[in-house]
Amino acid sequence: MTERIVLAYSGGLDTSVAIGWIGEATGAEVIAVAVDVGQGGESLETIRQRALGCGAVEAYVADASDEFANEYCMPALKANALYQGHYPLVSAISRPVIVKHLVKAAREFGATTVAHGCTGKGNDQVRFEVGIQTLGPDLKCIAPVRDLALTRDKAIAFAEEKGLPIETTKKNPYSIDQNVWGRAVETGYLEDIWNAPTKDIYDYTATPEFPPAPDEVIISFEAGIPVAIDGVKVTPLQAIKELNRRAGAQGVGRIDVVEDRLVGIKSREIYEAPGAMALITAHKHLEDITVEREQARFKATVGQRWSELVYDGQWFSPLKRSLDAFIEDTQRYVTGDIRMTLHGGQAIVNGRRSGTSLYDFDLATYDTGDTFDQSMARGFIELWGMSAKVASGRDIRVAGK
Ligand code: ARG
Repeated sequence: MTERIVLAYSGGLDTSVAIGWIGEATGAEVIAVAVDVGQGGESLETIRQRALGCGAVEAYVADASDEFANEYCMPALKANALYQGHYPLVSAISRPVIVKHLVKAAREFGATTVAHGCTGKGNDQVRFEVGIQTLGPDLKCIAPVRDLALTRDKAIAFAEEKGLPIETTKKNPYSIDQNVWGRAVETGYLEDIWNAPTKDIYDYTATPEFPPAPDEVIISFEAGIPVAIDGVKVTPLQAIKELNRRAGAQGVGRIDVVEDRLVGIKSREIYEAPGAMALITAHKHLEDITVEREQARFKATVGQRWSELVYDGQWFSPLKRSLDAFIEDTQRYVTGDIRMTLHGGQAIVNGRRSGTSLYDFDLATYDTGDTFDQSMARGFIELWGMSAKVASGRDIRVAGK
């Protein structure tokens, strides 16, 4: 029987050419798999037909948009996940769900190998292959761009020579990856890190310099998950989409960073994640009133470690799973409403309410009715500073000798 290879297919030039390229290089049959993670753009049926037109023996399309929102975006939200304090892990969280569907398709179609279109310089190759090793340890991996010398120029020449049903003239200087959690743009003019991004780079966000009138939104959460917007019930996918639209119109969620890739390269990235950034901001503010101080402090370090693991392609690792259990436990009381104004590139929280809040008005107030006994503070401070005071006494004594 002819060997079969499942290819992660985007519908773009590189992966379209990869279908025939892999076939010629290996003699295997190629099954194209496209996964919908809310990237928008062309219909999946159009993409499926193109794969068949480019020589795939089968083309399989998975609608994973709700699965992606529920099982990948929501854990990132609960973790307030921002790699290096900036990047909401847009591409990093999409790879594991794509891997799941690739492995499923490999089983269904009897494939021995999984192929992806990543280069040898990025994080995504690591995320794909570590994921595949974990979920399908018997499967092999190949990357035509990296392993079979499929360069951009060769791809264009191949498409023209074979008359593939794909546009080869439209030259986009950027490498773009997008899904419902956000959009990542890199390469080209952006590689000079002094160059400011030009307006044409953005798609999910309008320019914040000319915002429409401020947009006030109320986001309701239950155990860390957005469940309603302005009182209207929503699924996680609907919440993200609605906020992509409303926060995007106000230019919220534009990010310009130089980040540390796993492979040791620093790289310039432009992200737009209006829905994700609005949700993370709201969620964090709700945690501020519902999560106990020590739990909250510790959770911040857990969230950071979680982000690094996910960035580094360890979605299916035991440590990531253990951190998920901790994060999940912290979300028990993260229920309530956040009122937020979207305007001029910012999402600013200006009100919060929760039936499970730890905010105690009677303790906090400086007005009459205060229930806090201020006389307790003196003794507390005396003991709190004792250890450092004893040590500094020793320092003075030793230095004096
Ligand atoms: N640097 C980001 C990451 O590693 C985004 C990568 C997006 N890929 C792309 N082809 N633009 O998660």
